[in-house]
Amino acid sequence: MSPSKIDTRPSYKIASIPADGIGPEVIAAGIKVLNKLAATLNTFDLHFEHFDWNSDYYKKHGKYIPDGGLEELKKFDAILFGAVGAPDVPDHISLWGLRLAICQPLQQYANVRPTKILRGTQSPLRKCAPGDLDWVIVRENSEGEYAGQGGRSHVGKPWEVSTETAIFTRHGVERIMKFAFETAQSRPRKLLTVVTKSNAQRNGLVMWDEVAAETAKQFPDVKWDKMLVDAMTTRMVLKPESLDTIVATNLHADILSDLAAALAGSIGIAPTSNLDPTRENPSMFEPIHGSAFDITGKGIDTPVTDCLALANPVATFWTASEMLSWLGEKEAAKQLLDCVEAVCEKGIVTQDLGGTSTTAEVTDAVCDEIERRLGKASASQ
Ligand code: NAI
Ligand code: MG
Repeated sequence: MSPSKIDTRPSYKIASIPADGIGPEVIAAGIKVLNKLAATLNTFDLHFEHFDWNSDYYKKHGKYIPDGGLEELKKFDAILFGAVGAPDVPDHISLWGLRLAICQPLQQYANVRPTKILRGTQSPLRKCAPGDLDWVIVRENSEGEYAGQGGRSHVGKPWEVSTETAIFTRHGVERIMKFAFETAQSRPRKLLTVVTKSNAQRNGLVMWDEVAAETAKQFPDVKWDKMLVDAMTTRMVLKPESLDTIVATNLHADILSDLAAALAGSIGIAPTSNLDPTRENPSMFEPIHGSAFDITGKGIDTPVTDCLALANPVATFWTASEMLSWLGEKEAAKQLLDCVEAVCEKGIVTQDLGGTSTTAEVTDAVCDEIERRLGKASASQ
């Protein structure tokens, strides 16, 4: 007898870390939409466990992650992360205390940042049609400028010295280049741009370029070129259609991906996957934006007239879609993003995209769209 569908259907354990600022608002919205999708499709299960690791926890306990916390995370299939950063904690303490303290030990070395102009939204670029901007930025996520190497001596004295040393290992560069070429190869245009700054940074980034050229030989079907990071900013603005997949160092890609999100309409739409491509550790999924103190707490249950700015949950919805895809639920991932775009097309968008809807209104509209599009289909199966 073949096992019933119920017996064999996949079930995923997700660790949720909403953390600070608008993180809790957008993660609550993301989980609501994911639960709605799972209940409607009825083909897989999602189980969320919540972790209260945030800046309040840090202020009480002197650390963001309790002892044994990383080992705890390893038991999950994926991590859904909001944003970390509070006005009364220095940013380098919060970022290193939580986000980097997860990504780096769990070797989530490939940070993947897709950007496109969602249906129903507009680029601030005058001449950019929707199909003209459809990129995936691959960010090296384990070393480079964020390797944490450096120090300060004679603090506060006129002769103070501080160093921030970028580390590029052949192992680290080879694995991200291979990942980037594979990503480019999996996309229809098979086009990769390697971002560098090897004119000024004559050691690490010269090796970066050499490894790119060596890796390219293994991917003869991928067309690739090389851009200095400063010139890359102008190309992104003036010739967005000439780009497809992009690989850059930790710092360069951090900056370029915020620019990419803004060129696609708003930082409030853009997702990130922090992947361990070996799948030894769970990967972590988060919107690219930060904790956005300026709009915190205004998105849920607040009349739209009371505030000008509201958290856009779309970045988290797209992030949720990327997470489903990584977990193997590719069709569900596609359906979710389709529903999000359909809601944008109806003009139900937050103020950063030129609309007047609240976080909660956009979330409910996506849930309704899931029901409308997928409810009948799954009921008739
Ligand atoms: P941010 O991304 O929080 O905000 C930049 C601007 O974009 C703000 O005007 C904000 O209102 C707007 N914005 C961001 N997300 C939005 C959304 N979903 N909907 C509508 N508007 C949105 O970056 P900022 O201000 O540089 O950093 C604030 C804090 O966040 C800092 O503590 C920083 O260290 C932290 N941060 C944390 C990150 C993470 O946890 N991965 C990433 C970036 C910053
Ligand atoms: Mg950033």
